[in-house]
Amino acid sequence: KDESTVSITVVGASGDLAKKKIFPALFALYYEGCLPKHFTIFGYARSKMTDAELRNMVSKTLACRIDKRENCGEKIDQFLKRCFYHSGQYDSQENFAELDKKLKEHEGGRVSNRLFYLSIPPKVIVEKPFGRDSDSSAALTKALKQYLEEDQIFRIDHYLGKELVENLSVLRFSNLIFEPLWSRQYIRNVQLIFSEDFGTEGRGGYFDNYGILRDIMQNHLLQILALFAMETPVSLDAEDIRNEKVKVLRSMRPLQLEDVVVGQYKSHTKGGVAYPAYIDDNTVPKGSLTPTFAAAALFIDNARWDGVPFLMKAGKALHKKRAEIRVQFRHVPGNLYNQNFETDLDQATNELIIRVQPDEAIDLKINNKQGPSNNILNANELGVPFVDIRKEIPDAYERLLLDAIEGERRLFIRSDELDAAWALFTPVLKELEEKNIIPEYYPYGSRGPVGAHYLAARYNVRWGDLG
Ligand code: BG6
Repeated sequence: KDESTVSITVVGASGDLAKKKIFPALFALYYEGCLPKHFTIFGYARSKMTDAELRNMVSKTLACRIDKRENCGEKIDQFLKRCFYHSGQYDSQENFAELDKKLKEHEGGRVSNRLFYLSIPPKVIVEKPFGRDSDSSAALTKALKQYLEEDQIFRIDHYLGKELVENLSVLRFSNLIFEPLWSRQYIRNVQLIFSEDFGTEGRGGYFDNYGILRDIMQNHLLQILALFAMETPVSLDAEDIRNEKVKVLRSMRPLQLEDVVVGQYKSHTKGGVAYPAYIDDNTVPKGSLTPTFAAAALFIDNARWDGVPFLMKAGKALHKKRAEIRVQFRHVPGNLYNQNFETDLDQATNELIIRVQPDEAIDLKINNKQGPSNNILNANELGVPFVDIRKEIPDAYERLLLDAIEGERRLFIRSDELDAAWALFTPVLKELEEKNIIPEYYPYGSRGPVGAHYLAARYNVRWGDLG
């Protein structure tokens, strides 16, 4: 009908599908006289383009179905005059409002049917928790895969978007002074430490169902571990990196009960302020044994890492907020300076500290002469202060959202990675819960349960974050 109007917006207009299929199909409909008299086609995409550039791009793929049909060139020109372009982000209300304004101008006050063609692959970003154990995680994956392909699912672990975690691969694979040392031959232990100086206030309902092992260790710390310990990927391509991460996760021994220490914070008064216990939160069930702290020792049974303890520590309501990776190196063979590292854990040792947050930095402890005697050594830190160099470090979510928009999957968790991660933690989580293991209680704002030190000492390790 003459007065009917249609506005067609092709979202993703600079993409292959739009170019090869959608615009040619719209042209064919126009050519056959199937489109209403008043129609406007808007291409919408993130690329910057003028109307003329869009028309030029589109014109290359337009053809009249039967060659040499009369008026073909003329028809193409008329069609192109109805095609416009608006550049905008896919998640920007403002950009869509601008588009709306332009559409209205073209519709000229007529009632219009608006059609939006989303010529972009649908993606879904999923936040953790990805289940509570292997079975519930597998059920979640199955449910998602009913509707989506694996490459449309973006499982977020925001620790992978943290600048210093991403830099881990750069540090290791682009520095000759580190890469050759990255093995059991030179590394004595690796520590992954997460602590927060606040409790679960207000989030008790969620937290109590999960606990610190599921909230932090099975995902954030384990992901860092996988990145840290993986073999060199074939390339920086998402699948190559994730293949290596899965391999290392699958080479790990499931966590054993004797290698876990769990704790829960109790109330503590400091400077006249009374800090509540975990169970004082009225969203937490009375008598809950859910751990708000855990320390664990994990092992990778492969040639590179055989026998090297990977120690994790994560806790709420501790004395400081920080996340860091500490790599303690072995002592120099021959021991000219009589350093007795194996028995005296206080002796200076080379240590690489990756300070994920706050005060993002990389520090390397190196030994120096402390006083007049050659035998008294002290470790000083060589440092790369990211905070000073970079001025502004984007939040992990900014980085990850942009990656998801662009379809970059490198920093998202693939389903086989997730399965491997749950396989490591599910048995011990079940055991902790079935046996009703009582957590070690630690005062709010303290350094956590002393059991964490005994666990480390069993593997001849001293936590590096005690200073
Ligand atoms: C979340 C956990 O994944 O990470 C929270 O569920 C935790 O318990 C948070 O507080 C920490 O994130 P960040 O970026 O503040 O260290």
